[in-house]
Amino acid sequence: MMQLMKFSLLILGAFLFVAFGCSKAEEPTTEGGSSATPGATTGKPGTGNGFASVQPIFQKNCAGCHNDASPKKGLALTGYANIMKGSSEGPVIVAGDPDASTLVKALHGKDGIKRMPPAGALPEADIAAIEAWIKAGAKE
Ligand code: HEC
Repeated sequence: MMQLMKFSLLILGAFLFVAFGCSKAEEPTTEGGSSATPGATTGKPGTGNGFASVQPIFQKNCAGCHNDASPKKGLALTGYANIMKGSSEGPVIVAGDPDASTLVKALHGKDGIKRMPPAGALPEADIAAIEAWIKAGAKE
């Protein structure tokens, strides 16, 4: 009888040792894993999809005509607020929907909107960047 009790205490002790040993060893691993992953993913899209990612494209290819001094068709492509305000016809950006955005139609020269810039289409990569920015919500 005594032998059996000693044996079961030993089993219990071993079980507790393993259980506590594991939970203590796991904590730092899960914390380290969960804090490293979101940190790496939130940083990149946040900066990659903001207006800063497309501002140089507008500055270089559009602001010569769509500037603050005498914006063509009332559309100034010089800063976030002006772009979102749109032209004398109304907004040219539909946040989240590139295909419905007049500005994207102009980049492709489709749906009766005159191709922009008039001298020739932008490189595909620039058009894709603007479409991605609008699709991500056209954020500042
Ligand atoms: C050489 C001057 C010039 C450049 C450069 C230029 N535009 Fe234009 N843009 C115009 C003119 C002029 C109009 C008016 C066209 C018309 O209605 O006949 C216009 C119209 C537009 C419209 C239509 C607005 C509306 O509501 O109908 C959009 C959108 C537009 N431009 C976007 C751009 C973008 C984006 C760029 C750069 C990639 C750009 N433009 C570059 C001269 C220019």
